[in-house]
Amino acid sequence: KKEKTLAMIKPDAVAKLGSIIEAILDTGFIITKAKMVLLSRKEAMDFYSEHQSKSFFSDLIGFMTSGPIVALEVIGDDAVASWRKLLGPTNSCTARSESPGSIRARFGSDGTKNAAHGSDSIASAARELEFFFPSSGGRGPKNTA
Ligand code: CMP
Repeated sequence: KKEKTLAMIKPDAVAKLGSIIEAILDTGFIITKAKMVLLSRKEAMDFYSEHQSKSFFSDLIGFMTSGPIVALEVIGDDAVASWRKLLGPTNSCTARSESPGSIRARFGSDGTKNAAHGSDSIASAARELEFFFPSSGGRGPKNTA
């Protein structure tokens, strides 16, 4: 079934964007939208609000606002699950032992600096795509320039 999901390249992996896009396209996905933005603290906290009570939240917000990110709308068969499979386990160290060819194994560093994000459900994908690519009203997070 064709689905849309959000693929977000995090600050630690933006320098490897070319290789990551190559992996996305080689897997058979189509990239239909792209935006590079420097998130404000408020935007990062809003995007990750489900994690606000977690111990790693402040590290996560510091990391996600440390440089630009690239948001991609990705379309493909079972895109939500397929993109998370290509990402690999959340922690890049775990990814290197359990899923060596995955994006997080290849391009991430640890449990926080893990190269990229993927929506965890169809509902999250709809919310997260709307966050970066609003269908009406505002323009979403501002461009880095
Ligand atoms: P992501 O898939 O974007 O979702 C939440 C992010 O929080 C996660 O990737 C990591 O960057 C970060 N994080 C840091 N520590 C943890 C942890 N113990 N469990 C889950 N996510 C973590």
